[in-house]
Amino acid sequence: MAALPLTPIIPARPFLKWAGGKSQLLCEFGGRLPGKKTGDRNVTGFVEPFVGGGAMFFYFRQRFVSAESTICDINPELILAYRVIRQAADDLIAELGIIDSAFREKDDREKEAFYYRMRDTFNETKTANGSGMPGPGEIRHVAQLIFLNHTCYNGLFRVNKKGRFNVPFGRYKNPDILNCDNIRAASHLLEKTRIIQGDFVACRKYVDDETFVYLDPPYRPLSATASFTSYSPTGFTDRDQKRLARFYKALDRKGAMVMLSNSDPLTENNGDSFLEDLYAGFRIERVPARRMINCKGGRRGAVSELIVTNY
Ligand SMILES: C[S@@+](CC[C@H](N)C(=O)[O-])C[C@H]1O[C@@H](n2cnc3c(N)ncnc32)[C@H](O)[C@@H]1O
Repeated sequence: MAALPLTPIIPARPFLKWAGGKSQLLCEFGGRLPGKKTGDRNVTGFVEPFVGGGAMFFYFRQRFVSAESTICDINPELILAYRVIRQAADDLIAELGIIDSAFREKDDREKEAFYYRMRDTFNETKTANGSGMPGPGEIRHVAQLIFLNHTCYNGLFRVNKKGRFNVPFGRYKNPDILNCDNIRAASHLLEKTRIIQGDFVACRKYVDDETFVYLDPPYRPLSATASFTSYSPTGFTDRDQKRLARFYKALDRKGAMVMLSNSDPLTENNGDSFLEDLYAGFRIERVPARRMINCKGGRRGAVSELIVTNY
């Protein structure tokens, strides 16, 4: 009798908080996945070129267990974290355990100082991002990243122009620094996943007519003040948005099933049809969204998200 595929007992979810993370929108996206919309079209591959925290990757991977998966992001620290979780989950848990205990035994003032020392150490450590087995330095670096991500203000990863992580301390009462079950469940789902660090176009060769591609690029800022595009020192410009639309069309010509999400420019600016023009001819839908990274707290909840599908 053929062995049944092993599925994790604990469902995996993003192990980092990530600006623009899609956990809140999975119910909207779930109903629009190709399996439900395209009848009996086979989905044997999944490609996510802007994986970020991976909300869609974990969601999809647990439903389409056998789909061959590829994830990619331009952020080297993030991609290193995926590699370490895939290949060295237990060593990572051990490193994180050391940091977690050291942090918890401190009082509030000492916790803040501990955070800034860790931020300096993190910024001073250069990590190679090769494809072999991650070494102890890389594992420690990822443990520091996870710690900083769960204790920093608003749980975001933001770097300055020199590429230095610059988010202040977050003062959370009980941050979820060490979640062993989730790290192990994520590691299990990453086992057969190709992990690429680079620009989204690098994914092109992994797409065919049975692939579902989910594209979630950095938001096009809704207004000059609402901008959060600093996942990487270079940012994501309107030129990149146009380059991405050409990529979308190339994947469409390959016969892939493609879903893209982005901020809805019409939310704040009635005349702005930039994205609608780029994706004219495809199905464009709007769903209500709660934008988490927004310095104007009162405006949370007032935006919608565009979803562009070609199926
Ligand atoms: C909106 S976030 C994705 C969020 C993700 N869907 C989630 O649920 O967490 C956009 C991601 O695109 C990445 N990115 C920016 N420019 C890129 C590029 N040129 N190619 C690939 N990834 C890029 C950023 O590092 C960021 O992680």
